[in-house]
Amino acid sequence: MRKPIIAGNWKMNTTVSEAIPFTETLIKSYPNTDIETIIAPPFTHLSTILALTKNTPIYCAAQTLSESKDGAYTGDISANMIHDLGCSHVIIGHSERRAYHNETNELLNKKCLIAQKTNLIPLYCVGETESQRDNNSTLEVIKTQLITGLNNVTITGKKLIIAYEPVWAIGTGKVATPEQAQEVHAHIRNVLTTLSTNEEAENIRILYGGSVKPENSQSLLEKPDVDGALVGGACLNVNSFCDIIKTASTINV
Ligand code: PGA
Repeated sequence: MRKPIIAGNWKMNTTVSEAIPFTETLIKSYPNTDIETIIAPPFTHLSTILALTKNTPIYCAAQTLSESKDGAYTGDISANMIHDLGCSHVIIGHSERRAYHNETNELLNKKCLIAQKTNLIPLYCVGETESQRDNNSTLEVIKTQLITGLNNVTITGKKLIIAYEPVWAIGTGKVATPEQAQEVHAHIRNVLTTLSTNEEAENIRILYGGSVKPENSQSLLEKPDVDGALVGGACLNVNSFCDIIKTASTINV
């Protein structure tokens, strides 16, 4: 049994003053469920949001981290800094980081390694662009992202989460069909099997991300290898985010 995870990636949205009442409302409206919920606010918000979510079922993630331990890296934030604040997770390899900050699979591998070394759980994102899908290279692209990005990373359900986020579906309103998502999720699990054992690969939660909304979440989450969602736009609305959490809690994974 894999406990579903609903994660909300706030990206570069909200100020701290806006995020406080938002988080208070989220905590008040939080459904009675034992699925896992993670929110990923911007770095500037983390200590405030961590204080608000303390003693609630909501975990906090950072949206990225430095591959270096410490030192002269102006503007960067280390795994230690994030862990010391109380974060449990960190998103690594989001397609916006890959595209706008040229983050390669090799660099992302360093980030996954330092995250695990610091007891942060990487939420490692993979996904193909529209042209890669059109060229029929989706499965190959994702395999490389996994094999290179997870080199020497501990592949176990407690220490790693994967998110499949087709780039063409992010923020576009174009959601993958449940069948497209299932095909890639099953492929990801297969590749994980080659990097670890069958049993460990079976325990890893694989989230779908890309235009997830309350209206499309059920059909995606019902698929056997879809173990949750990484939600962007819809997580900035408390009602929509809670509706997706409620949907996930009604589905037996
Ligand atoms: P979206 O973003 O839900 O707005 O498509 C998903 C993501 O980027 O994680």
